[in-house]
Amino acid sequence: MHPDLANREIILGVTGSIAAYKACEIASRLTEAGATVRAALTQSAQEFVGAVSFEGITGNCVITSMFDPGLNPEIEHIALAKRASAFLIAPATANIIAKMAHGLADDWLSTTLLATRAPIVIAPAMNTQMYTHVATQENIATLKARGCIFVGPDAGQLACGDVGAGRLIETPAILEALVCALHVDKPLRGKKVLITSGGNHEPIDPVRFIGNRSSGKMGHALALEALRLGAEVTVVTGPHRVPLPHGVETVEVETAHEMLEAVEAHFEDCAVFIGAAAVADYRVERPALDKHKHSDAMLTLSLVPNPDIAASVSLRKRPDQITVGFAAETSHITEHAQDKLKRKHLDLIVANEVGVAESGFGTDTDRAWLIKANEAVVDLGLLAKTELAQAVFSALALNGTGSLKA
Ligand SMILES: Cc1cc2nc3c(=O)[nH]c(=O)nc-3n(C[C@H](O)[C@H](O)[C@H](O)COP(=O)(O)O)c2cc1C
Repeated sequence: MHPDLANREIILGVTGSIAAYKACEIASRLTEAGATVRAALTQSAQEFVGAVSFEGITGNCVITSMFDPGLNPEIEHIALAKRASAFLIAPATANIIAKMAHGLADDWLSTTLLATRAPIVIAPAMNTQMYTHVATQENIATLKARGCIFVGPDAGQLACGDVGAGRLIETPAILEALVCALHVDKPLRGKKVLITSGGNHEPIDPVRFIGNRSSGKMGHALALEALRLGAEVTVVTGPHRVPLPHGVETVEVETAHEMLEAVEAHFEDCAVFIGAAAVADYRVERPALDKHKHSDAMLTLSLVPNPDIAASVSLRKRPDQITVGFAAETSHITEHAQDKLKRKHLDLIVANEVGVAESGFGTDTDRAWLIKANEAVVDLGLLAKTELAQAVFSALALNGTGSLKA
């Protein structure tokens, strides 16, 4: 879970949707992450879920009414509106979205939303006809223009039997949107960040491939951090196990050649390029057109080198563009990384140890070093990939004007 959620006070507004039960999981994940969660249930929400569930999960009393005689001054609406780190409305009905857009204040949640200046994240859930109705769409546009952050909805089979947009998006996407909203300083606003992530599948025949163990977790953490800092993010990803954060433009590829092509198509207008993908060094020279049949005879594959994507874009970068590479090493880690930094004309290289239990492919942590040309190596030790992503962007020295200097 993201470190930014710890010690934050989050008001979780739950409204009268069939998806209200899913707010229990959201409350639970936020509490696990160290946030103080205050659930506020509308009258309608209480028809779907009970306040006692949220009390048990969050350890805090739940707000169920504007005129609750037991409401103490600490959670009185103006006090909480001022103190809250952020508001998360999940699920958000068409009704609360309409009330917010029009400034109505006829219950605790809508009144407090009007009184706060904290970031507001809204995860809508409703029937497709309600969601696509021009009234709802105009209300959403109004709220977006005022700075509210919308996450979802997903499309799919809805509780009412309809198929279409309106399903509450999954909890991880909601929490990531909240993480981005909590970071109000946006030094990368207006900048494009291009990231490669995942591994590659190099075909042997129509059904087999050579692959690697990349999970895409590092690319995910980098993309989330870039979003948190306000960038427009494009991720060119090979096969991966972890879904990318909501809000990034994703280009799915399989082979190193396809990855290079996609990177070249997006490189021109990016301010920062980060090559975090585990690009296949080799590919099969001539993949078979038909499936190899089982046989007792030896099969020899002839492998040819793949293009070096990070080096290829670094060689043609403009002075206003920054390129960052990753070096996954098993021995002489910083020496090999320093060599790659020079050879590939990178501005920054992240050396990380692979092949050990807590670092490298598929882990949530990494043993890492940051290296820039002519500067001392920064030993980051063992840290979470989310923390490593923060360290990478900090090393790019983002200043208040949004300009970057590696
Ligand atoms: C079974 C049932 C399911 C509902 N699900 C939704 C829903 O998913 N989204 C929505 O916008 N309204 C839904 N509604 C309608 C809202 O509950 C209704 O508009 C209510 O006034 C919302 O109040 P609130 O926004 O104060 O919670 C549902 C109603 C019923 C009876």
